[in-house]
Amino acid sequence: MKSKSTRDLRKGKKRNPASKLVCPGKRLTQAAVRRFQERIYLHYQAHGRKLPWRTTQDPYRILVSEIMLQQTQVQTVMGKYEPFISTFPDFPSLARASLRMVLQKWQGLGYNRRAIALMQIAQRVTDEFYGKLPSSVETLKTFPGIGAATAASIAAFAFHKPTVFIETNIRRVFIHSFFHDRTNIRDAEILPLVEQTLHTSHPREWYYALMDYGVMLKQNHENPNRRSAHYQKQPPFQGSNRQIRGMILKALTTKSCLSEQEIAQKLHLSREKIKYNLVQLEKEGFIKRKRRKITLAENL
Ligand code: ADE
Repeated sequence: MKSKSTRDLRKGKKRNPASKLVCPGKRLTQAAVRRFQERIYLHYQAHGRKLPWRTTQDPYRILVSEIMLQQTQVQTVMGKYEPFISTFPDFPSLARASLRMVLQKWQGLGYNRRAIALMQIAQRVTDEFYGKLPSSVETLKTFPGIGAATAASIAAFAFHKPTVFIETNIRRVFIHSFFHDRTNIRDAEILPLVEQTLHTSHPREWYYALMDYGVMLKQNHENPNRRSAHYQKQPPFQGSNRQIRGMILKALTTKSCLSEQEIAQKLHLSREKIKYNLVQLEKEGFIKRKRRKITLAENL
């Protein structure tokens, strides 16, 4: 893969300026920063992934991909991203879509609350920001479903801002490269290194390269993230309430109106389990009840 940034680095043009630290900690020499950047970019040139959300500059498309990628593997998102974008190509189309349509397109991605958050973001962007996604990290963080890391990644990918953030693949690269004999490594210790090594003139390409290096490490090494203080194994999905809520929503997207009993029969599950999960879905704004009948919410 072509990399302008590597050429710049070789000519010594693009150096990371001595910037203020996110928090004090390990200080790298300029030579160490350079060696690290070269290693990451060499891997990227040879093995960088061509992903559909990496070829666009459209903030809407980048937002959708970052929300999808928060809790879903790249392979799964690959199959869902293009159909979602074809159906809802911009903020206005998503802002006026029905929950039913959006959930249909979200099927298979899991964590459906993100679908509602995306719709709410689209509505707020059209109502309050003239249809343009704000580029400020602070403003992005005020939207539902956008935390600090997602706000920073959107600012880097959609607006080329040299923000500092960590996600799972990036964490893996830094633990592997800079914390050889340590366990219980906190993100607060990693962030200063992310900042010191950031290729500030090409943050977007740099973060793609870091993420792809992190994917390679996962394939070839025992997962360095086990040494992170924030490491958590995903709880099993099979048989979980999360799976049951997904099944209920799927049933309600195919048949518009069902009773609790009908849902229990359809899913071969006890009334107690259905009742419990219906309460959660109602609290989260997915469903409405009218007497005994349950439907998807029309308005968020
Ligand atoms: N490219 C851009 N954002 C990404 C992400 N969150 N995961 C993997 N690849 C990406």
